[in-house]
Amino acid sequence: MEGVVIRVGGADDLERVEAIQKASPEASQWTVSDYLYYSFLVAEIDGAVAGFAVWRGVDVDEWELLNIAVDPAFRGRGLGRALVDALPAGRVFLEVRESNAEARRLYEQCGFVAIGKRRRYYQHPAEDGIVLERKR
Ligand SMILES: CC(C)(COP(=O)(O)OP(=O)(O)OC[C@H]1O[C@@H](n2cnc3c(N)ncnc32)[C@H](O)[C@@H]1OP(=O)(O)O)[C@@H](O)C(=O)NCCC(=O)NCCS
Repeated sequence: MEGVVIRVGGADDLERVEAIQKASPEASQWTVSDYLYYSFLVAEIDGAVAGFAVWRGVDVDEWELLNIAVDPAFRGRGLGRALVDALPAGRVFLEVRESNAEARRLYEQCGFVAIGKRRRYYQHPAEDGIVLERKR
């Protein structure tokens, strides 16, 4: 996609990433400096960071997507798709709020399928989590 660059995130990106996370209440609200200990990608559009994704290895060729968000002002332009497509090959697991239609649509487009439900996995507000898996 024109003008979009996916690259590894670093300490200099954390301020922007924190702002994007705060503006995305559907995303997990974690301490962003912890992302430096995981696999951490940012999406830039025209040179500015507008999204991020964080995941960790849970086994050989098996990963868990921990968080992903795109700045609300830059959604619908393919940044989320580009971040998910940049995940490593292999099996990827994630949880998503049942009501999070935008994220579920993105994951479905990227080949994820529902494999289970975790009842009341989320709080504030309490909601079931759908467990998704992508095999590749
Ligand atoms: C989910 C999220 C990362 C998608 O980012 P994005 O950059 O807008 O995604 P893309 O532009 O790549 O869109 C990919 C697909 O997602 C879906 N999508 C994106 N925006 C949507 C919207 N407003 N309504 C419905 N579906 C939408 C569409 O299927 C879209 O593909 P299409 O445009 O070809 O139909 C973004 O909405 C976000 O940050 N949400 C808040 C945080 C969050 O929910 N994180 C996931 C927690 S599990």
